[in-house]
Amino acid sequence: MNDLYSDQHACALDAADPLPTLRGEFHIPQYNGEAQAYFVGNSLGLQPRAARDYVDEVLDKWATQAVEGHFTQPAQWMTYHQLVREPLARLVGAQPGEVVAMNSLTANLHLMMVSFYRPTRERPAILIEAGAFPSDRHAVESQIRFHGFDPATDLIELQPDEANGTFSMEAIERAIAQHGSRLALVLWPGVQYRSGQAFDIAQVTRLAHAQGAQCGVDLAHGVGNIELSLHDDDVDFAIWCHYKYLNAGPGAVAGCFVHERHARSDLPRFAGWWGHDAATRFKMGPEFVPTPGAEGWQLSNPPVLALAPLRASLDLFDRVGMPALRAKSQRLSGYLQALIGARLAGTLEIVTPAEPERRGCQLSLRVVGGQERGRALFGHLAAHGVLGDWREPDVIRISPAPLYNTHVDVLRFANAVERWSTL
Ligand SMILES: Cc1ncc(COP(=O)(O)O)c(C=O)c1O
Repeated sequence: MNDLYSDQHACALDAADPLPTLRGEFHIPQYNGEAQAYFVGNSLGLQPRAARDYVDEVLDKWATQAVEGHFTQPAQWMTYHQLVREPLARLVGAQPGEVVAMNSLTANLHLMMVSFYRPTRERPAILIEAGAFPSDRHAVESQIRFHGFDPATDLIELQPDEANGTFSMEAIERAIAQHGSRLALVLWPGVQYRSGQAFDIAQVTRLAHAQGAQCGVDLAHGVGNIELSLHDDDVDFAIWCHYKYLNAGPGAVAGCFVHERHARSDLPRFAGWWGHDAATRFKMGPEFVPTPGAEGWQLSNPPVLALAPLRASLDLFDRVGMPALRAKSQRLSGYLQALIGARLAGTLEIVTPAEPERRGCQLSLRVVGGQERGRALFGHLAAHGVLGDWREPDVIRISPAPLYNTHVDVLRFANAVERWSTL
């Protein structure tokens, strides 16, 4: 049998991989003159080389044409957000009219809750997972208060029922059934940021709808990571960011999905001029007539400079397609899992579910021995050009991103951990 830990084996896996790496399309950060093994695409994805060209195109146009750039081709600014609409729709399994790039994730979550969290005295509650990303919890809690309800009773946080802090579908089903008649909204992650657990979005949505609740999904860690079919899954809304697996740069403009059945709804919303019907927007009338679809939730004219790098990244996703990327992601994370199982089990416990279909690319690794040892290991890895990210109190997240990580990167991580554990 091949030695999992041999350089030849890792190189052979890369050479034979059905999806040759697109690493050359990215800037890889250097550490001590060597390319870093960068596993933090779950936090900030790497810069596509073509991002600069797209940004330069905007800067050049601004320099030479100023306001006329709104109307001149290529890539007129007036409709710039629409340049990413179809690739984004392909990525999340939506119709083009169901998606829009705008604002930031948390801002979009609030805008979506204005429309899709309509609490009543009988049905005031929101269900989220315990340990949700703080911004989601803040947003949900503040919305409950804003409507005059009490988070102590109306913010329901489902505790994990599995070892390692993950959730069985049975637990989710039980919670939705138990609180069903009081639930206005279920807000669930596509992939949980801390544990890396991926969820059956269609099933969560079915369960929520069966109880008369709306269902929204946070895809911060899902988009560009797992295959998505938001339209068919019947999700009411979804929100996500583009700076993680979508490689669109720090603080990049975010994404939003609104299901087609709400495209022409008269749900209350917070409105702005860019959500007004494009055909009459510049008549500058006082009345708000929403553009059908997700674009009707836009507030402001598109942040063109922030959208430009996203185009570069979406070109790469389109070139490869999510099915091939997901398959490669499973090979890389599977290799990481095997390396840990073979020699590192005394140092690292895998928190993330073992089944590939219940996770994305990220493996969350609890350092045996606790916080102090964990910090020491994290420091050792960073000092050897291997970058993951640290989550208090004792977890290192390692996310092999299939666009630019390789089996050789994964082996570098395992070798660095093994060396440290024998120091
Ligand atoms: C799961 C999740 N939700 C929400 C956010 C907040 O995103 P933003 O700062 O773009 O609003 C993040 C950011 O990392 C996240 O991971």
